[in-house]
Amino acid sequence: MTYNFDQCPDRRGTESVKWDLYPGTLPLWVADMDFKVAPEIQAALQKRLEHGVFGYELVPDSYFEAMHKWFAQRHGWDDIDRRNIVPTTGVIAAYSAAIKAMTVPGDKVMVMTPCYNAFFPAIRNNKCVQLDNPLKYDGHYIVDWDDFEKKAAEAKVLLLCNPHNPAGRVWTREELLLMARICRQHNVFVISDEIHCELTYPGHDYTPWATLPEEYVLNSVSCISPTKAFNLAGIQIANIYAKDPAVLSKMDRAINDNECCDVNVFGVTALKAAYTAGGEWLDQLREYLYHNARTVSCFLEDELPAVNVLPLEGTYLMWIDCRTALREGEPLEGFSERFGKFLQEKVQLTLSTGSIYGAAGEGFMRVNIACPRSRLLDGMQRFIVGFEAYKSTPWQ
Ligand SMILES: Cc1ncc(COP(=O)(O)O)c(C=O)c1O
Repeated sequence: MTYNFDQCPDRRGTESVKWDLYPGTLPLWVADMDFKVAPEIQAALQKRLEHGVFGYELVPDSYFEAMHKWFAQRHGWDDIDRRNIVPTTGVIAAYSAAIKAMTVPGDKVMVMTPCYNAFFPAIRNNKCVQLDNPLKYDGHYIVDWDDFEKKAAEAKVLLLCNPHNPAGRVWTREELLLMARICRQHNVFVISDEIHCELTYPGHDYTPWATLPEEYVLNSVSCISPTKAFNLAGIQIANIYAKDPAVLSKMDRAINDNECCDVNVFGVTALKAAYTAGGEWLDQLREYLYHNARTVSCFLEDELPAVNVLPLEGTYLMWIDCRTALREGEPLEGFSERFGKFLQEKVQLTLSTGSIYGAAGEGFMRVNIACPRSRLLDGMQRFIVGFEAYKSTPWQ
C-alpha cells in the first residue's frame, strides 16, 4: 500500500499545541507531525473505541511481544520482555523517574548540549544539578571527548539523547561505546532517551544502548516509545527497559512514587498496532522525511547560503545556524528569541528557538519538517524573507 504524506487534515481549531498556540502562523516547531497516523493504527483504535468501556486495564503479554518482535527484527535488540520493562505514561515521565531512582538531591546529571529542553526541568525537579557537556560544533556536531571525560568524573548520571534532538545526530556504535567506557570508568549511570530511534536516514543506523556489551548495559536504562515515529504524542505511552533486575525494581519504585504507573488504554492499543502493523507506513514516512530534509538543505543552500543547515542523520527536526543574521552591534545573547519573534510577526512563521536547548543553542533555530512538502517549502520561503528583513533592520 502507498501512503500519501502530501495531504493531511487541517489541525487548526483542534486544540493542537502546534497549531493553536500561535494562531495565524505557520507552525514548524513543537515535535509532532501533521500527518494522519497509519490507517492500521487508526483502525485498531477505532475497534477499541467501539467497545465503549475504558476502565483500568492490565498490560497484556501481547504488548511486550509486539515490542520484542519489533526491536529484535528491526534493531537487533532481542531481549525485551515483560520481565525487564516498566510501562509508563511518557518518555519524560520515564527519564524523570529514572533520575529520581538513581540520584540523591545535589547529584550531578550530565547532558550533551544543545539538548532536548525538557531534560532541564526533570533534572531540577529531582533536585539535581545540571552539568553541561557542550557538543563541539564545526558545521556539524561531534562529542567533545575531553570535556565528556572531565564531566563524567563529576556526574552521577548521563542523560543521553540517542538519536539526538536537536542536533540531528544518530550516535554511531563507536561513539556510544566510547561514552559507555568512560561512564563505566567513572561509575556514571546512563539513562538513554531513545524516543527518536525509528527516525533515521540512509547511512545512519540507530544503535540501541541496550545492544552494547552487557557490562555497559547493566548500569543503564533505556526509555523507548512509538509515539514520536508514529505520531501518537498526545496518546502518551512509553517504557523503561532495564537489564539488571535490581535497577528495574528501582525504576518500578520510582514510577510508583511518581504515580505514573497506570497507562492509557489507547496507548496500549496504539503501541501494539504500531509495532505489529506499522512497519510499511513507517518506512514510507522515513523516505518522505528524508526527501523533506533534502529539500530544505538544497533550497536554503541555493537561496540563502548565509545559513548553515546541519545534515540530518535522524529525527524530523532540522537545526539551522542563523548567526549570520546578527546585525552590526547586536549581541548573540537573546538573538534566537528576538529572531524567532521577528519571524512570527513579520512572516507569520513559528520555529523553535535554539536557546531553549541550552546556551549552546543560542544563534540556532529548529525546524520541524514533518509536514507536507509544499507546506515546508512555504515555511522556507517565509524564513528567507524573514531572515533578509531581520538582517536589514538596524540593531537598536
Ligand atoms: C528527546 C525527547 N524525549 C522525550 C520527548 C517527549 O516524550 P513524551 O511526550 O513521551 O513525554 C520528546 C518530545 O519531543 C523528545 O524529543
